[in-house]
Amino acid sequence: MSSQAPSPDALVADLCYRNLKDHVIESTGLAYYLDKDLQLAEKVGKRLSELNMPNCSAYLARLRDGQAGEMELDELVADLTIGETYFFRHEEQFEALRRTILPDIIRKNAARRQIRVWSAGCSTGAEAYSIGIMLRREFAGLLAGWDVSILGTDINRKFLAQAREGRFGDWALRATQEDIKGSCFSKSTGAWRLRDEYRDGISFQYHNLVKHPYPSLLHNLTAFDLILCRNVMIYFSREVIGGCVTRFWTSLVDGGWLVVGHAEMNPEFFRAFHTVSFPGTALFERAEIAPEQPQLPSNGWMSERAAPNAVPWQPPSLPDLPLLLRRQPMAPPDAWPYGQGASAITAQIRDLADRARWEEAAGLCRTLIDKNKLNPIGHFYYALVLDQMGRAQEAEGALNRAIYLDRDFVLAHYHKGLLLQKVKDLAGAARCYRNALNLLGAMSPGRRFSEADGIAAADLSELAQMQLDILEGP
Ligand SMILES: C[S@@+](CC[C@H](N)C(=O)[O-])C[C@H]1O[C@@H](n2cnc3c(N)ncnc32)[C@H](O)[C@@H]1O
Repeated sequence: MSSQAPSPDALVADLCYRNLKDHVIESTGLAYYLDKDLQLAEKVGKRLSELNMPNCSAYLARLRDGQAGEMELDELVADLTIGETYFFRHEEQFEALRRTILPDIIRKNAARRQIRVWSAGCSTGAEAYSIGIMLRREFAGLLAGWDVSILGTDINRKFLAQAREGRFGDWALRATQEDIKGSCFSKSTGAWRLRDEYRDGISFQYHNLVKHPYPSLLHNLTAFDLILCRNVMIYFSREVIGGCVTRFWTSLVDGGWLVVGHAEMNPEFFRAFHTVSFPGTALFERAEIAPEQPQLPSNGWMSERAAPNAVPWQPPSLPDLPLLLRRQPMAPPDAWPYGQGASAITAQIRDLADRARWEEAAGLCRTLIDKNKLNPIGHFYYALVLDQMGRAQEAEGALNRAIYLDRDFVLAHYHKGLLLQKVKDLAGAARCYRNALNLLGAMSPGRRFSEADGIAAADLSELAQMQLDILEGP
């Protein structure tokens, strides 16, 4: 039974409220709440009442309590995030995509016959699915035999679950043409269900833009031709936006495109891009050589790879600077167990992967394996690259070899889970996630994996648990 929620005024006056607010903004990027104490306190108060907790201090302790804290943050995030979205939102941008950007990408990628799209902050999936519908309806002829993948990510797991369901109300289709409604959706029990053929190649995964690394070969967040991050960064502070835009730059291939919302187009953030104007909008093309600019501050959890600097670093202008923006030293990754030579090669492999130069990346993986066939890292990287090339069976073989050589290779178990999930071997995938979780359970939560962008054991554990929950229900 829940207790009566403390009033928002009382919570804001709580001595620990300020620390709690810093923690929430640090974990989510939602600086939007910096000057909205009553709104934030109301949502926190609701959770306190549901959990029968007396005050902010008890709630902050829960949020900081490892796995339980992550689960509680999910509950709060479900209330804090604003998921407004609909199909073909910002018609001018979809027009620019249809007329210019998608044909440009298809032309540039004719040799590798692959398109990779990321809808970052995808909410319930309308944006990712709109691109899918456009590609299938308008470009199917040109794309026959191509590997087209569209990934939607979000911090709100409830939105992601809805996105995977692919069912939408009338409101989400308010800007959708009748003929698209008729041919791409079926209507049953009051909802519009996107037909299976329009969901093909579209997947959704949990990702926090301010906390998790990108680009990341391990998490399939690399070498995008097109990134849409619309109406997401509007809730972030200037510094967090700068960091996100820098990492988007690094996650795009040369000449790749970034699309942001109309309220997010402050040119100051996009200096490493060419701004290209279209009727009623502007889109950003990744410049091949990033302009020389001073380094942005790192927050520790960023990918350790050198990122270009889209935004000149300026002193924070907000009086209430959240903790996230203060520089935090990153714990050094565990010692590289396979020799410095191997580490230099894997850096090159990741670099090639970031540019979608898969054949060259695969060649380097084979070189790494030839140097030392007993080195599981070579087989692991080979598997990641083969997976990106659409060669799932060979990728699985390479992962099996990595695991055979090192049974405790947690990243190989985790990635094998992702791979088996993709090829619909759900029981096998669940086994792999459980193996990964068992191994992670025996490790210190702060241990970092250098071969996976420095991700911490606790974060990987959270991701593996989440995948297992998707397969089996929480
Ligand atoms: C207003 S919706 C935008 C949806 C879609 N991009 C569009 O324009 O229609 C904002 C989305 O950003 C997500 N979001 C907020 N903070 C995030 C974060 N730190 N990492 C990832 N997603 C985040 C929210 O959960 C929400 O689904």
